[in-house]
Amino acid sequence: METTATTENTDREHADQGKTDAAGDPIVVLRNVGKSYGNIHALRGVDLEVRPGRVSCVLGDNGAGKSTLIKIISGLHQHTEGEYLVDGEPVRLSGPREALDRGIATVYQDLATVPLMPVWRNFFLGSEITRGPWPFRRLDIAGMKSVADRELRNMGIVLDDLEQPIGTLSGGQRQSVAIARAVYFGARVLILDEPTAALGVKQSGVVLKYIAAARERGLGVIFITHNPHHAYMVGDHFTVLRLGAVELSAPRKEITLEELTHHMAGGAELAALKHELAQVSGVDVEELPDEGAPPAGAPAARA
Ligand SMILES: Nc1ncnc2c1ncn2[C@@H]1O[C@H](COP(=O)(O)OP(=O)(O)O)[C@@H](O)[C@H]1O
Ligand SMILES: [Mg+2]
Repeated sequence: METTATTENTDREHADQGKTDAAGDPIVVLRNVGKSYGNIHALRGVDLEVRPGRVSCVLGDNGAGKSTLIKIISGLHQHTEGEYLVDGEPVRLSGPREALDRGIATVYQDLATVPLMPVWRNFFLGSEITRGPWPFRRLDIAGMKSVADRELRNMGIVLDDLEQPIGTLSGGQRQSVAIARAVYFGARVLILDEPTAALGVKQSGVVLKYIAAARERGLGVIFITHNPHHAYMVGDHFTVLRLGAVELSAPRKEITLEELTHHMAGGAELAALKHELAQVSGVDVEELPDEGAPPAGAPAARA
């Protein structure tokens, strides 16, 4: 694991050469954003920036507020505190349609595809190309096939046959079709909600590759994950959420994979718990693991 991480670091440092820190003005900015559902405070005080050609990773355990955050950015929910700016302009999005009009596209884990329809048909689902004057307008099948083929290839996605039902593709391939689709339809910001959560190692690699491809094409990417290894392979900035608040926010050069993993493993929480338990008699805190280290084999008998 250690060796792999080091190799990845080196690769990314090479890829970063020639890039300046400011990769263009941020497209999306959140300032002190919060969200309450009635009296449930799901999110508070969140700052986030998404710049073109950059991957912003948002990490956090279950219930940390990741989905709430992207629902705000993608227009499904509205923030109840703070500011949300797109291209420097404060916005309160009325829905996903308005987000899309501003170039903010979301690829959800449970993809909105029709499994039995061909790949090319899914690529254009809801935005089909038509030809001929009204009322003789009909689907431009050849046109759609050739555009889908070209766009997928541009993203480095090679499929044997665009006629195959999308349901026959692997999870990673389906995600990559969705990414290519968003890019083609003008996305400037791509939001990916746990795209690797349900995937195996190899399929996760496929998705990470297309996240990198989207960045190379100048998109700003928000990559939601609870896997620090996946985040570190492609991320330029890392935000760790815990219980709805930002626990950590750091650019890549200020944090190592080990530190990120430590945060995700609940290292700080564990230390606090250890401190609390130390006040309780009958609990031997010395036996508690440090910083997410594996628990000791057999609990030692107390003297
Ligand atoms: N629609 C909702 N109504 C009430 N509470 C919600 C709603 N959506 C999320 N929450 C609460 O907000 C918190 C954060 O949830 P969520 O954003 O889904 O976290 P994550 O995606 O990181 O697992 C949780 O405590 C959750 O129960
Ligand atoms: Mg979630």
